Amino acid sequence: MVAVVPAVPRTARDLRYITTVLALTVYRFAPRGDDLQRRIHDLIVTKAQPVPAGARMLDIGCGSGSLVVKLAKAAPDSFVTGVDSWGRDWEYSQRQCAENARIEGVADRTAFHQQSAAAVDGSFDVVVSCLTFHEVGDLESATGALVAALRVVGPGGRFAFLDLFGDPGHYPSPDGVREAIEGAGGTIEEFGGLADALPLPFPLRHPKVLGHALLVVGSRPRH
Ligand SMILES: C[S@@+](CC[C@H](N)C(=O)[O-])C[C@H]1O[C@@H](n2cnc3c(N)ncnc32)[C@H](O)[C@@H]1O
Repeated sequence: MVAVVPAVPRTARDLRYITTVLALTVYRFAPRGDDLQRRIHDLIVTKAQPVPAGARMLDIGCGSGSLVVKLAKAAPDSFVTGVDSWGRDWEYSQRQCAENARIEGVADRTAFHQQSAAAVDGSFDVVVSCLTFHEVGDLESATGALVAALRVVGPGGRFAFLDLFGDPGHYPSPDGVREAIEGAGGTIEEFGGLADALPLPFPLRHPKVLGHALLVVGSRPRH
C-alpha cells in the first residue's frame, strides 16, 4: 500500500536487505499475511463514528473500494462515495471497486467516481482518506489536498484522515498540518501516530514505510 523508496543499493548485501524489506512489507499488508491494510481501514471506520442516520460519506483516494465497503456496512442506512484518479501507479480500478461493492452487498449504497482529490466537491457528513494526500500530484503540496478534503466536510460533519503527516518530504511539520486543518475550519479531536493506535511490526515503523503516518480525527463546527 505504501511504496518503500530504498537508498541506491551499493552491494549485493544491500540488495538482499532491500528485497527482504519489500517482501516483508507486502506480507504485512496482505490479507494472507498480517492483514494490516484491513486493520488500518477498521481503525478509520471506528474513528469516523458516530455516523448520523442517513449519512453521506466520502472516501478520497478509495483505491480498491475496501474502505468504502466497510463504511457502508458499518452504517446500513448510509450512502458512501469513493473517488480516485486510478492512475498507472496503482493496480486499483473503478471496475474493481464496483465489483467489490457488489460482492459485499452494498452496490446500491455506494458510488465510485474517477476524480482527483484536488477537485472534490459537495458536502458530506463524514469524509475519510487513507494514505492518499501525499500521492496527489496535481496540487502544489499534500497540504493542498488535505485542505481540499476539509472543504467538503459539511457543517457538523466528521473527518478521519491517515497520511504521512509527519514526513518532512511531504508536509512542513505536524504543527503546520494542525494549522492547515484549523485554518480550513476543522476542529481537531485526535492527532497521533498510527503506531500508537496499531502495533506496527518491522519494517512498518520505518520512516520510509509508515513511521511518519499520523491519524487526524475531527469535525467541522456547525457555525
Ligand atoms: C496508497 S494508495 C491508498 C488506497 C486506499 N486509500 C487504501 O487505503 O487502500 C493511494 C491511492 O491514491 C490514489 N491517488 C493518487 N493520486 C490521486 C489523486 N490526484 N486523486 C485521487 N486519488 C489519487 C491512488 O490511485 C491510490 O488509489
